[in-house]
Amino acid sequence: MPASDYDVEELESGLGGSLFSRKLHYIPETGSTNTLAMHAGAAGLEEGHVFFTDQQTAGRGRGGHSWQSEPGSALLVSILLRPRIEAAQALWLSLMAGVAVHDAILRSCGIECDLRWPNDLLIGRKKVCGILTEISSEGEQLRFAVIGIGVNVNQRVFPPEIAEIATSIQMETGKIWERSELLVALLRSLECEYRRALAPEARASLVAWVESVSSYTRGKRVHVDEAGGYDGVTDGLDEHGFLRVRTQNGIRTVLSGGVRELNA
Ligand code: BTN
Repeated sequence: MPASDYDVEELESGLGGSLFSRKLHYIPETGSTNTLAMHAGAAGLEEGHVFFTDQQTAGRGRGGHSWQSEPGSALLVSILLRPRIEAAQALWLSLMAGVAVHDAILRSCGIECDLRWPNDLLIGRKKVCGILTEISSEGEQLRFAVIGIGVNVNQRVFPPEIAEIATSIQMETGKIWERSELLVALLRSLECEYRRALAPEARASLVAWVESVSSYTRGKRVHVDEAGGYDGVTDGLDEHGFLRVRTQNGIRTVLSGGVRELNA
């Protein structure tokens, strides 16, 4: 594996005073940073701990898919949070994470990504970042959540099976990017969006913001991978952040399924 470009001391100084200060855990290689963070949550660690690596051997994606990336090329990070919310409100965490990554990539690399509900980030039609939010709950109450983020940063090529649907920041800009810089921007932005997602009065602005940066939330013909699968046209987000889709049988609400553009 090539030498890592992560410098934990430099990262610490970039994150001084933040929720994540002195809670960074760099592991050169691991199965999945989400698994590490879920174990840390179950062991009672406080919120704000961050697990990041150069290589995952069992990276997980949404919908039971695997998540793979060439060693040292992607930002692979999982963050442990303990919001005092009900488990049913966990969607706010997914939405705010997408917003945070969008903002970090824009500020660090100057690229405006599209957001595919709930939180895939795309450049053009190709995916540059995926987010897997996992939770542990007790009754209706959420005990802790792990936000796992995989950003394709410096890949120059993808395996044939995903080459048509994946891209990296390097492939889009022709430049190599420092993952440390992106990680600091991402965590700073995540802390800010996290505060917003926790304040019920600020959630309308989060919904409005998601709608403003996503071409997917309105007027997009999509296939929804939920309830046996169905097609329709997106019709905005409801007040809880769920995607509304107009179908031949009326408006349906997408709860957690993947959404894919039709006729792309
Ligand atoms: C998706 O399917 O789009 C979500 C992919 C999430 C991948 C990240 S990489 C860091 C963290 N660890 C994992 O095992 N998964 C997430």
